[in-house]
Amino acid sequence: LERLRLGVMFGGRSGEHEVSLMSARSVLGAIDPKKYEVVPIGISKKGDWLIGPQAASYLQTGEEKGEKEYVVILGSGQFQLVSLKNRIDSLSLDVIFPLVHGTYGEDGCIQGLLEILDIPYVGCGVLASAVGMDKGIMKMLFAQAGLPQIPFLSFKRRYLETHLDRTIESIARQIGFPCFVKPANLGSSVGISKVREQAALKEALLYAARFDGKVLVEKGAEDCLEVEVSVLGNETPKASIPGQIIPINEFYDYQAKYLDKGSQLIIPANISDRMTNKVRELAIQAFKAIDGSGMARVDFFVKKDESIVYVNEINTIPGFTEISMYPKLWQASGIKYSDLLDELIELALDRYKENARSLRSYEHS
Ligand SMILES: Nc1ncnc2c1ncn2[C@@H]1O[C@H](COP(=O)(O)OP(=O)(O)O)[C@@H](O)[C@H]1O
Ligand SMILES: [Mg+2]
Repeated sequence: LERLRLGVMFGGRSGEHEVSLMSARSVLGAIDPKKYEVVPIGISKKGDWLIGPQAASYLQTGEEKGEKEYVVILGSGQFQLVSLKNRIDSLSLDVIFPLVHGTYGEDGCIQGLLEILDIPYVGCGVLASAVGMDKGIMKMLFAQAGLPQIPFLSFKRRYLETHLDRTIESIARQIGFPCFVKPANLGSSVGISKVREQAALKEALLYAARFDGKVLVEKGAEDCLEVEVSVLGNETPKASIPGQIIPINEFYDYQAKYLDKGSQLIIPANISDRMTNKVRELAIQAFKAIDGSGMARVDFFVKKDESIVYVNEINTIPGFTEISMYPKLWQASGIKYSDLLDELIELALDRYKENARSLRSYEHS
């Protein structure tokens, strides 16, 4: 049997660079070398591309060593590596796992690059990635699909800067307090504030607007559990057992996610069978609403008395270390980490095959 040549892509110009390195280390540690020849592909914080041994060393140390070796350009079905020593090497890959969270990785940019390269890749395509990243557009599609959501308003940065008083007034009137203010296109809780009173709104709005050109304001979900479900598949996606997050801080902010130990992942989530079925069903609907493929994690707020459930968001490249929620939920549902990788790679090849069926030229007869 031929081994597949798998590119594992990590790093990137995003606030979630380090998280991506952790995810990639886990994948490289668990992948079956009998089935795959792995080629690490690192993107440094500056945006330099590192391939092979240089990338592997970057993954270990988090530091770029030696001279920059290659400039990467695109060829059909290949990365052309133009070495700065005037050699041209070609790197053919059968499939790529883009494990780049956040900006440029989870938002359709890398996916677009891989489409142009004509290489199959794991996870959502361009459209679903872009939509999943933009909380404003995501919510519009969820609403269209009839999914239950917490009330929200969305403002363009230019608008709120020039109409600050009017913006604050309408938030106070239509959303109330506490509310959550967030940049539309970001993750890892960066730029998010919980606002308890009107006097604190201005600062929170301007803070979120430093990170993105669009700002979202949501009603605060109170007395709620944070419940998460993993989704896996293409046309017929399946949903995992739900898990629950208990943040160590007042909400699941950056500090609670990555810095303080003590936030807990509870699997299965502490909810009834009825609510379990409900969130699994909603997770699949959310995945389909953005035209997802491969994988995604869908996050919910569930009222403690289970009278209400809201879809919070979908993450198309969720944390992927062995102790991250996405793989742990599959583990609890009977799919172990290395088998999950096999399944995701199969789904990538399957979607590529399905897309390739579409004609790319047309001759009128
Ligand atoms: N409307 C809300 N009500 C209550 N808590 C919220 C609300 N929105 C966000 N949070 C808290 O902030 C965290 C991060 O918000 P989220 O929308 O998931 O952004 P990110 O994409 O950065 O993860 C959530 O996990 C939750 O703890
Ligand atoms: Mg989140």
